[in-house]
Amino acid sequence: MAVYVVTGGAGFIGSNFVRWVVSNTDHRVVVLDKLTYAGHKASLAGLPENRVSLVVGDVCDAELVDKLVADADVVVHFAAESHNDNSLNDPWPFVSTNLIGTYTLLEAVRRHGKRYHHISTDEVYGDLELDDPERFSESTPYNPSSPYSSTKAGSDLLVRAWVRSFGVQATLSNCSNNYGPYQHVEKFIPRQITNLIDGIRPKLYGAGLNVRDWIHVDDHNAAVETIITKGAIGETYLIGADGEQNNKSVVELILTLMGHQADDYEHVNDRPGHDLRYAIDASKLREELGWTPQYTSFRDGLAATIDWYRANEDWWRPMKAATEAKYAKTGQ
Ligand code: NAD
Ligand code: DAU
Repeated sequence: MAVYVVTGGAGFIGSNFVRWVVSNTDHRVVVLDKLTYAGHKASLAGLPENRVSLVVGDVCDAELVDKLVADADVVVHFAAESHNDNSLNDPWPFVSTNLIGTYTLLEAVRRHGKRYHHISTDEVYGDLELDDPERFSESTPYNPSSPYSSTKAGSDLLVRAWVRSFGVQATLSNCSNNYGPYQHVEKFIPRQITNLIDGIRPKLYGAGLNVRDWIHVDDHNAAVETIITKGAIGETYLIGADGEQNNKSVVELILTLMGHQADDYEHVNDRPGHDLRYAIDASKLREELGWTPQYTSFRDGLAATIDWYRANEDWWRPMKAATEAKYAKTGQ
């Protein structure tokens, strides 16, 4: 039994990670989450109180972080400002949480000699051409495009420096686009599912040809636990499940699965600086640590996700109107 401090554990991937840890290990989890617009107590509903507790606070709060890290065995750092569109409207929370928050945690794990795992994104590598035969690997140079991805890239570099300079016991992972339950309705897949439930046509940025490499959130989280238990200190592992799809085909599949005509969507304003394509080569994780994804059918995983949003309107309804009002301002 170990004590995990999970930052951002009330967000999309973090709350699914907490559920995964409770189901698959005997660890106790302390969630540290600021409960921003993206964090929800409801995402942790039903979890056993003797296994999971929630501390509402900021990862930039050095005193609080020090206290929690002192009592932890492992710190898993999910907390971040995570949405590219928001980072274009107001970059400051991204600089604060993603950079200063990571610095604050690193200083605490350094003081207390604790194991640290850093959750990051494939976006740190920039984007690929649609016809590029290469995919991102651990040796791809960093080339982030947005305020979001540049602050994540900066946070990764802080972790690498703290490993090399101070001997911090850290691993890093950079994952592709996740889908599954408890994802905020600002994000692409939940936005289109909840739009259709509300009788609104799905919205495709630009021509819809941008490619993302989809992975189910449980596959991401199983990989994270694999890296925590088997990964080599100081190493980076890319996480992906060979799930490349362009946005147009994802929208068409959502429409079909929800009983609509596949072309019943609309094109809206494109995202400034919109990354064209992400694609992950996860050979290192598969070959060195033996991880394999369990969700091999995107269609089945998406159908289950649609069912989840249909059954859990109480969870997403409170955030829907404000999210669409925000998009209306940018014509998206
Ligand atoms: P999310 O926006 O759904 O959740 C973020 C959580 O962090 C929320 O609960 C929020 O309240 C909390 N948080 C924000 N600022 C905080 C602060 N200052 N102090 C404490 N808590 C704070 O994000 P997500 O999609 O679950 O992403 C989680 C992590 O995974 C991020 O680090 C992100 O960069 C990374 N990631 C996401 C994806 C993806 O597809 N969503 C893919 C790869 C990596
Ligand atoms: O690649 C990993 C990243 O994936 C994570 O680091 C980020 O935290 C996560 O938000 C996600 O970033 P994206 O920008 O790729 O995800 P988003 O859901 O915002 O958009 C996915 C694609 O869909 C992108 O090409 C933009 C497009 N899009 C998005 C929305 C919200 C649309 O066409 N229409 C929409 O309404």
